[in-house]
Amino acid sequence: MLYFYIMDMKRLIEESKKYLMNTYNRYPIVLRKGRGMKVWGSDGKEYLDFVAGIAVNCLGHCHPKVAVALQKQAQRLLHVSNLYYIEPQIKLAKLMIERSFADRVFFCNSGAEANEAAIKLARKYAKEHIGHNRYEIITAQGSFHGRTLAALSATGQEKFHKGFEPLVPGFKHVPFNDITAIKKTITKHTCAVMLEPIQGEIGVRMPVKNYFKEVRHVCDEHGLLLILDEVQTGIGRTGKLFAYEHFGIKPDIMSLAKALGGGAAIGAMLAKDSVAASFQPGSHAATFGGNPLACAAAVATMETLLEDNFILDNCSRMGKYFMKNLERLKKEFPSVIADIRGLGLMLGMELTKAGNPIVSKCIDRGVLINCVSGNVLRFMPPLIVTEKEIDYLIDMLEDIFGRLS
Ligand SMILES: Cc1ncc(COP(=O)(O)O)c(C=O)c1O
Repeated sequence: MLYFYIMDMKRLIEESKKYLMNTYNRYPIVLRKGRGMKVWGSDGKEYLDFVAGIAVNCLGHCHPKVAVALQKQAQRLLHVSNLYYIEPQIKLAKLMIERSFADRVFFCNSGAEANEAAIKLARKYAKEHIGHNRYEIITAQGSFHGRTLAALSATGQEKFHKGFEPLVPGFKHVPFNDITAIKKTITKHTCAVMLEPIQGEIGVRMPVKNYFKEVRHVCDEHGLLLILDEVQTGIGRTGKLFAYEHFGIKPDIMSLAKALGGGAAIGAMLAKDSVAASFQPGSHAATFGGNPLACAAAVATMETLLEDNFILDNCSRMGKYFMKNLERLKKEFPSVIADIRGLGLMLGMELTKAGNPIVSKCIDRGVLINCVSGNVLRFMPPLIVTEKEIDYLIDMLEDIFGRLS
């Protein structure tokens, strides 16, 4: 029987290589089922998931409340146009607005789309309120804002630009954590500064103390908008609902996606009333944006996440526990581990060597982790992860590193 499942997996992988565009370097497993922290391959092998769909499955896989909400909504109403009012969309908007700096939300389907909406809103607002020639957005080197053309142009990593030039004009990239660089880059064309609270894709790069306070101050001084890309940090990942809450500031515009739907595809762009007012009927739209199905999943996700703060507390506690154990490994293997960083359950371990062989070893032993920037292991489990599950990964890494040195 196992032979049959392994052959079936091989067939699926061959067909994937034959029929899908070759846009991902995939690990050779097919995932078929998930519950909580666990996923199972099509060959029946069990894995502990410290990737969580890259910060998507915040409540774990197939959380019963999300699954039931999707089932019920699927039987009631799958899709209607934004030409009409949509019940779960209104409910979700209210939940988000009541708990954020924002007054208004626009729904879309992904992080890149949320950033496109943010960029468009910033440009339109600036033209109307700051000056006709205001369109430039300052973003950070090492940032990642998505793969659509404007989000890609905002992204401060050349490797993602290659082959797609000419990029959308109007983006200037400055070193992250360098307030002087932002000040020097502001011109009479600047309309906004756009940053991730923690840079995820470059390898979990943390902001230095007071960086965001200073950025907020500079934006206020020059009448610029502050756009925070919370696509990866948002919806509890850092132990607070939104990462900006750690920094004692509020943005003018924020983008969200990933964890918002607990696994369903949904993105959102939020703004203060004064800024949001620059979007009027016809300014922007998305056919599937705020779709009843995705919104029903997101309502269930948000309600579950906010119930008694239990999950956010768990994220903070487990984040600290995880960090402490990663630091211990760093002390034990100083020649392999260069740095540990992160906040809540968004953690990175910078290695002195390539990370992918470690990821493959973990997969072989039944744990999913992820590697970014070639040598940073990134850990972003569901926010419901337990000490026991963290111990399991730490023991495994200890054993793997022990065999390396
Ligand atoms: C900070 C950030 N912004 C935007 C995106 C793009 O999101 P999506 O892949 O949903 O378009 C990502 C994806 O990793 C991200 O981490």
